Amino acid sequence: MTTEAPQQTGNRTNGSGPSEGAAGSSAYGEALADVYDSLYPTSGPAIDSMIAFLEELRPAPASLLELGVGTGRLAVPLAKHGYRVHGVDASPAMLAKLHENDPTGGITSSVADFSELVVQERYDIVLTALNTFFMLPTQELQISCLRGIHDALADGGVAVFETYNPQNYHRLSEATTQIGHLAADALLLDTIQVNRQLQSALVVHTILGPGGLRKVPEVSRYAWPAEFDVMARLTGLRVTGRWAGWDRSPLSEMTEKHIVVVERQDA
Ligand SMILES: C[S@@+](CC[C@H](N)C(=O)[O-])C[C@H]1O[C@@H](n2cnc3c(N)ncnc32)[C@H](O)[C@@H]1O
Repeated sequence: MTTEAPQQTGNRTNGSGPSEGAAGSSAYGEALADVYDSLYPTSGPAIDSMIAFLEELRPAPASLLELGVGTGRLAVPLAKHGYRVHGVDASPAMLAKLHENDPTGGITSSVADFSELVVQERYDIVLTALNTFFMLPTQELQISCLRGIHDALADGGVAVFETYNPQNYHRLSEATTQIGHLAADALLLDTIQVNRQLQSALVVHTILGPGGLRKVPEVSRYAWPAEFDVMARLTGLRVTGRWAGWDRSPLSEMTEKHIVVVERQDA
């Protein structure tokens, strides 16, 4: 798939829909686009802290490509801050929400599978946030994504990943259910079943609301830091930093998330 350069696209979504390769990867977004903005905060200290982290790496108005941009939960505040943002997502429904949420109309987007990323422009920052990299269900697809990121980085560019700590799922020896608040009249139940051999978690999001019951499965394939580092090296990248949060707090075994910064080896 090809992502178009921002200046060619205005605030419209490109492409007529996901390619065959992206078809499977669009399922999550297509099923959750209408409720997604109730699931995660769209503003607040965590987002401010992410912007401050990126600003220290490459200040606005740097160009920024977000993989799995979704409804623009992060892209909209990043664009407001002054970044020139292009988002890629497999789900047209998510991108439609993104453009509804983008008051300035400055964010551009492409419907594409980011495991087959081909860009026409290179970016100062490539951001893959909120565990989205782990939504690629095999090592092969994750390597393919990293290869695309390598080619998408401008000279001196950085790629930034936000993932959960694999330990959080790997330690679950039996199926676990977590209850989350969705809205005054809706409930979210996440059932998580881990396959340790495959380093993968099947998360079934069940939404109970006025519209009835909806089940959305999501496969998350986690990579331990050592494997991530090797995958990066195989694709001409190198990890230059890893922290427990956007505030650059140090990693520990119980850390909830990993923030990883990657550069091109030839940078
Ligand atoms: C967890 S959401 C994150 C959205 C946004 N980055 C955020 O932080 O709120 C993951 C997004 O990635 C998209 N996605 C998942 N797999 C994808 C793939 N292979 N190619 C393109 N987009 C994908 C989904 O449609 C969804 O919008």
